[in-house]
Amino acid sequence: MTKKSSGGGGGATVHLRSPSTSIVLVSHDGGMPAVGYWGVGLDDDDAGSVATLGGRPTARASLDVEAPIGLVTESGRGFAGQPGIAGHRPSGDGYAPRFRHLRVEQHRTEETDRVVWSLVDAFSDLALDVDVALCRLSDVVQVGLTLTNRGSSAYVVDRFAPSIALPPWAGELLTFSGRWTLEFQPRRQEWGPGAWVSENRRGRTSHDRIPAVLAGTSGFTETTGDVWGLTLGWSGNSRVVAERLSDGRRHLQLGELLESGEVVLAPGRSIRTPIVHGAYSPAGLATVSHRFHRFLRGRSHHPGPDRPRPVMLNTWEAVYFDHRPEILTDLASRAAEVGVERFVLDDGWFLGRNDDTSALGDWVVDPAKYPDGLRPLIDHVRSLGMEFGLWVEPEMVNPDSELFRLHPDWALHDDRYPLQLGRNQLVLDLSNSEARDHILERIDRLLTDNDIASLKWDMNRDLVQPTHDGRAGSRRQTLAVYALIDELRRRHPGVEIESCSSGGGRADFEILARTERIWTSDSNDALDRQEIQRGFSMLFPPEVMGSHIGPPVSHTTGRRHDLGIRSASAFLGHLGIEWNLLTASEAERAEIAELVALHKHHRALLHGGDWRRLDTADPAVNVMGVVAADRSEALFVYARVASSQESVPGPVRFAGLAPDRRYRITNLTLPGPVRDRGISPPAWMGMDEVVARGRLLMELGLQPPVMDPESALLLHLAAGDAEDRGGMSDD
Ligand code: DGJ
Repeated sequence: MTKKSSGGGGGATVHLRSPSTSIVLVSHDGGMPAVGYWGVGLDDDDAGSVATLGGRPTARASLDVEAPIGLVTESGRGFAGQPGIAGHRPSGDGYAPRFRHLRVEQHRTEETDRVVWSLVDAFSDLALDVDVALCRLSDVVQVGLTLTNRGSSAYVVDRFAPSIALPPWAGELLTFSGRWTLEFQPRRQEWGPGAWVSENRRGRTSHDRIPAVLAGTSGFTETTGDVWGLTLGWSGNSRVVAERLSDGRRHLQLGELLESGEVVLAPGRSIRTPIVHGAYSPAGLATVSHRFHRFLRGRSHHPGPDRPRPVMLNTWEAVYFDHRPEILTDLASRAAEVGVERFVLDDGWFLGRNDDTSALGDWVVDPAKYPDGLRPLIDHVRSLGMEFGLWVEPEMVNPDSELFRLHPDWALHDDRYPLQLGRNQLVLDLSNSEARDHILERIDRLLTDNDIASLKWDMNRDLVQPTHDGRAGSRRQTLAVYALIDELRRRHPGVEIESCSSGGGRADFEILARTERIWTSDSNDALDRQEIQRGFSMLFPPEVMGSHIGPPVSHTTGRRHDLGIRSASAFLGHLGIEWNLLTASEAERAEIAELVALHKHHRALLHGGDWRRLDTADPAVNVMGVVAADRSEALFVYARVASSQESVPGPVRFAGLAPDRRYRITNLTLPGPVRDRGISPPAWMGMDEVVARGRLLMELGLQPPVMDPESALLLHLAAGDAEDRGGMSDD
């Protein structure tokens, strides 16, 4: 259904509705629409009263008409906070546009409830489309803007980003900090007066400034409080603002960070913002995550139940650059023995790539290491029933490479300045069609000539002075990377791609629109992984979360962990092994084989259910798991991540179970020694069978044993009796 209305001077209200969420957009006096309400579902009648009930009085010493927190905040209307649009024409004109609405079109389909609000500023000669779509399947809202230069001179765009107004009870912010090998670290803070601003200038999504923010009622937990989550689908520079104004209002603004002169719109040209994705929950953080997960799962290329995530072995920490086909062949055999389904050959296979100083750009197989090409290894891998995956870093070039010697001008930098290396490498200018076509053909040839099921697409350095045609080119580069991946996917639709950027430096909804896996972190340290994956899971579902069992001593932290906690920390995600199995003992390999079999047995539950992070009073504990959508089953990892202040740990209070269903609890065996340090185990552990109702497991909880730090339990809960059906999950 499409409803149209055209502009006049009057106000307008649009109600977007999904099963659990309503968004009401309000425009007073024919200007910019603003989010008047974003919360639990309303009927149209109530939605119609939003403008009246929410209409604000005018305070003293303020403008006679308050500037709204429009979807694009306008300094031209007197909005004194962060403007959503900033730019100008060569004369200086157009620096503070003020838009009037022309047309509103609402489209209702089975999938989405969407409105496109068209506005214009006749004096600045700018047209603006505000596109807001609420997805019915997931309750996720998507916001995107398009700006068109209708004038006869160029228009320089310095900033262009949507703002979402939130109510004053959104008093606390959760954002993510991080670094290489410690990504997705959740940080909470009071949403104080002024603006919290996070600017990412790395030219990739980044490890430290993920473009996402969750705001909620103060003290919101996994299961309580209103929470609004927003994340920008963009893999380049970004700017996230949480602003609280002195007049009591607040908003979140997420957009690209544009360098000076980066976007100059010629007459008739347009710019589109990346999409901001938002999810609201009246019941804590878990539901925001479920909605994001459901949204991502609804995309057509997302690996669903028909494509179980193959257990992988990645060669990086096993052999690094030391590629010897006979060793790799043995490693593949060992991998197959423990149940691995995809063998991924990481960095080191191409021309002269013996360390990280050379060869990026030369995407041909190194004949010194592989005299007969990759085929013998691939054939061996395939004969063992496994798929073959290959590492590439297509956006990069080493100065010490054939490619750079031939085409030094293909590097993305300002050639008047000395080269700035990162990991000894430069970025290729993919907006240069010759460079792009060359790389496209090389990767295409690899995929055509070899039986390759997946690429690990790496990107290992920040962009510095990314100059194209004499001006800032980060945005163009990001779009060119998308186009390159899209073209390769078009040519090779069966090939999956893993997004990697020194670990989790490129994890966002837009790269995930064209990839199936994210390499979450270069840290395989089981303990650090607990926290990294907890943060990651707030946005992304477990089936895209690359999680590997590393060697006994972590290569990135030097810490030793036994196989139990290493397995438990990797178990829930897209499982892999990143360990030289040729050095593992027979007993260890047997234990891994059992664990891999257990993972496969539960894989449909793990990668199809609702993810749960449990609230715990004890900071020394991290409990995460998955509850089946029909609540018939659940699986949780209870991890002791530190020494507790208390000698006996408190009970685990589960979440997401059906209150009236009875669950049989099984303590699944993890590899390694049993780490129960108590004189006696908890009562339930000594019993043959333990069955309890969901309500009790969520209210009273289950008593864990006294355990060493850095050890874990794997708890399976299965609802037995059909008459106790509790219904589907309701978020
Ligand atoms: C960085 C990645 O994050 C690692 O997993 C590995 O692929 C190396 N690059 C290879 O150079």
